[in-house]
Amino acid sequence: MSRPELTPDELLSTTRAVRRRLDLTRPVEREVLEECLRLAQQAPTASYRQHWHFVVVTDAAKRAALGELWSDVARKYLGARRSAEASGSTARLLASVEHLIDHIGEVPVHVIPCVEGRTDGKPAASQASTWGSIVPATWSFMLACRSRGLGTSWTTFHLQHEREAAELLGIPYEAVMQAALVPVAYTLGTEFKPGRRAPLETMVHWDTW
Ligand SMILES: Cc1cc2nc3c(=O)[nH]c(=O)nc-3n(C[C@H](O)[C@H](O)[C@H](O)COP(=O)(O)O)c2cc1C
Repeated sequence: MSRPELTPDELLSTTRAVRRRLDLTRPVEREVLEECLRLAQQAPTASYRQHWHFVVVTDAAKRAALGELWSDVARKYLGARRSAEASGSTARLLASVEHLIDHIGEVPVHVIPCVEGRTDGKPAASQASTWGSIVPATWSFMLACRSRGLGTSWTTFHLQHEREAAELLGIPYEAVMQAALVPVAYTLGTEFKPGRRAPLETMVHWDTW
């Protein structure tokens, strides 16, 4: 019904962090989520280990509890950023986070990408291959969602309460690390614009930094 017709370039340039335009009343079908997760499985992983997991949370009480963990950190973030800087795009970002604080528990699906192994205290190279094994799959999941009319955003607030979230969901904390909490819902309207980004030359270095 609300599946947008997107070219690959449009998909890549319009997959935004969606917070305000989430349809909190429309359920998300399990089959659609499974399609997106199957596509995510095609992402690269270090040493072909495929040691990632996705915890898909639809239970209302668990979403409410996760929402509390998320909002606790989000409120502190807002307080700190507000006093420091709040105009233009920053003010819009903060207002959008504030909206999600009020509604995170109502978002119909929370997806928590996880990876086996903990990076705590490990050398950067080892950390890179662990995080690098979950990040591409999660982004593929988010792109697949967008192409089906679903909105997502990558969020990390709740990770400051990772242990509590692990207990709530039965995730073995010592062996498995959570990477994000991705709220998923159908979007209100399917048109999204490319985001504002710095000029390419400020970020790309040819042959030398
Ligand atoms: C590693 C990472 C952590 C993030 N953590 C949060 C978060 O905790 N809460 C949140 O609302 N958004 C979070 N975001 C989303 C960013 O705010 C968002 O991607 C950024 O503002 C760009 O938005 P745009 O892609 O729509 O332009 C995170 C994004 C990334 C990549």
